[in-house]
Amino acid sequence: MSSDTSGIVSSQAGAPAEELSAEAREVVAYYDALAPTYDADRFGNSYGAYLDGLERRALRRWLRGPRVLDLACGTGRFLDLASEGLDLSGKMVERARERWPGKRIHHAPAWSIPAAAGSYDSVFALHLFMHLHLGDLRRVLEECRRVLRPGGVMVFDFPNALRRRLVGYQATGWHAGTELMAGDLRMLGGGHWRLAASRGLALAPIHRLPHAARPAFMAAEVLLGRTPLKHLASYQLVKLEKLD
Ligand SMILES: C[S@@+](CC[C@H](N)C(=O)[O-])C[C@H]1O[C@@H](n2cnc3c(N)ncnc32)[C@H](O)[C@@H]1O
Repeated sequence: MSSDTSGIVSSQAGAPAEELSAEAREVVAYYDALAPTYDADRFGNSYGAYLDGLERRALRRWLRGPRVLDLACGTGRFLDLASEGLDLSGKMVERARERWPGKRIHHAPAWSIPAAAGSYDSVFALHLFMHLHLGDLRRVLEECRRVLRPGGVMVFDFPNALRRRLVGYQATGWHAGTELMAGDLRMLGGGHWRLAASRGLALAPIHRLPHAARPAFMAAEVLLGRTPLKHLASYQLVKLEKLD
């Protein structure tokens, strides 16, 4: 796929081009501008490394292979765990392709994956769902169901609505604007998925702790994020299995 400056994302040969909404274009413009500094800004500090470690640990445990799609792969942070990537930002895709020259990386919206039905054993999407309206989120889940084989695995994270309510946080705008409760997944998934596992991420306000204390907290988080305390964490990371 490729896109021109009007925000038209054209599919592979023969398929209809898709015009992006104003909001999707805003997201693309934001990530196009961020692409050159994304890795250093978001993951080049101890908080980023801490989150990356927690997410990576769960992905390693949960993903089934060998056909794995990293949906909204960004600059390719997790492409070592995937056989293919996809992203809507052309600049993010450029960087991911430079970093992973041997991988197939699609330039497309997450609700329109250029792959045949049943192409993947697993699909994962990190830090994507927080940007999507519920209608788009449903579309993305449905598209992932299409491209996964029966019994395939879908892994994603989302901001925890319960935690936000408890701390009185109110999101504004599309960036991390979508929050969910674990129970919302049943409604969004339409009965086509089984919740196979979940973890809480960022239970402690780690960015407020001294750097030296962070490794010890990470070890504690790995354990606490699996207990009922996970329901209080800032983010939830879930593994769904496709039922039908
Ligand atoms: C916060 S970054 C996360 C990147 C990567 N998953 C990671 O965790 O490092 C969000 C990514 O989602 C991509 N994105 C946002 N909306 C998208 C959509 N509708 N379809 C595909 N990618 C999208 C952005 O371009 C950006 O690269």
